[in-house]
Amino acid sequence: MKLSDLFSSTSNKPNTSNGVVGIDIGSSSIKVVELQERKGVITLATYGEVQLGPYIGKSVGESVVLEPKQEQEALIDVIRESAVKTRGAVFATPLSSSFVTNVSIEADADDDLAAMVRVKARKVIPASLSEVTLDWAEVEVTKVEEESNGENYRNVLIAAIQNSALERFKILLQFVGLNNPPTEIECFSTIRGLYKSEELDVAVIDIGAVSSKMYIIRKGLLMRMYRIRAGGALATKQISEALGVSFQEAEEMKFAADKNAANFSEMKRAHNTSYDRAFREFNQVLREYEKKTGIELSTVYLTGGGALFPGTVAHIKEVLNRDVLMANPFSKVAYPAFMDDTMHQISPSFSVALGAAMRAFE
Ligand SMILES: Nc1ncnc2c1ncn2[C@@H]1O[C@H](COP(=O)(O)OP(=O)(O)OP(=O)(O)O)[C@@H](O)[C@H]1O
Ligand SMILES: [Mg+2]
Repeated sequence: MKLSDLFSSTSNKPNTSNGVVGIDIGSSSIKVVELQERKGVITLATYGEVQLGPYIGKSVGESVVLEPKQEQEALIDVIRESAVKTRGAVFATPLSSSFVTNVSIEADADDDLAAMVRVKARKVIPASLSEVTLDWAEVEVTKVEEESNGENYRNVLIAAIQNSALERFKILLQFVGLNNPPTEIECFSTIRGLYKSEELDVAVIDIGAVSSKMYIIRKGLLMRMYRIRAGGALATKQISEALGVSFQEAEEMKFAADKNAANFSEMKRAHNTSYDRAFREFNQVLREYEKKTGIELSTVYLTGGGALFPGTVAHIKEVLNRDVLMANPFSKVAYPAFMDDTMHQISPSFSVALGAAMRAFE
């Protein structure tokens, strides 16, 4: 099985003739991207985002857990406001209700790998197997790994989604008229949205509202995934404490941040401090991965709304001491030239939704 097939069979593909909408339910906002094939070119039809905080009387940028009714309302709103027309969809489930890990399994060529994966999964997944939908795929073993582990070790990526979450999303999507769309964990959407076939080994860091995720990718396949609870909402909280303003004011200041403003350095310090531990751990993980596999990661791409704070690329470059670039997922699709500036400004927020929609065109 290919990783891109995780959690839905290829036969379960939306009809693309009327376009496809990719849906990303993040912890602070829902994002949608609608794509259409026009004369053989995948083209942006529309996109939109709705902040979830205000649905329960909280500020924009706060991470919230909505009641089903409020979640339905929010999804309806973003679909209406962005004028999404298609009923063909691909849904990205959040990593927070999923589990993804890479394991090494000692197995001979004629061993029943599927059975061994289940045994292993039982040990590594922090839930009973009856409560999750499980999938897995074998991934490459590098020469260096083979030399240190021996020939019998095989690498397997295990992924699981909580059944209760799948059920909740199924009801939500049915409510807005999207019946049983193909579903995948958000990391696979992000990778599809960013992957360039000429790049063998890269990493992606997605800075969300609640958590920062790092994916290590080889030939477009996920090799490792790490998630740390530090994101834009925590940064806003630190800024609000450092500058003595409310969360909402701090969130607004973050969006309007101007490198030349008088309080920018204080704001930046508070902002960057909130990511210290996360970025240090990512750095360690990257170095350990390179050492263990003998692979050199050429570039780290940044995505997620949190990457948009001014100076983030330079900051992470310094912490990781390697090439860091802002991702531009919309470069994969056609859109009107006048939208170019806007696309560059917002692009990182939409990697997941865009990548999910692109699945339908594979
Ligand atoms: N232009 C901007 N400048 C600074 N920060 C921004 C900007 N745009 C978005 N953010 C921040 O990015 C965060 C939201 O990012 P994103 O939409 O990727 O999160 P999410 O998908 O809702 O969360 P998660 O992935 O953790 O579930 C918020 O903290 C927000 O303040
Ligand atoms: Mg997100």
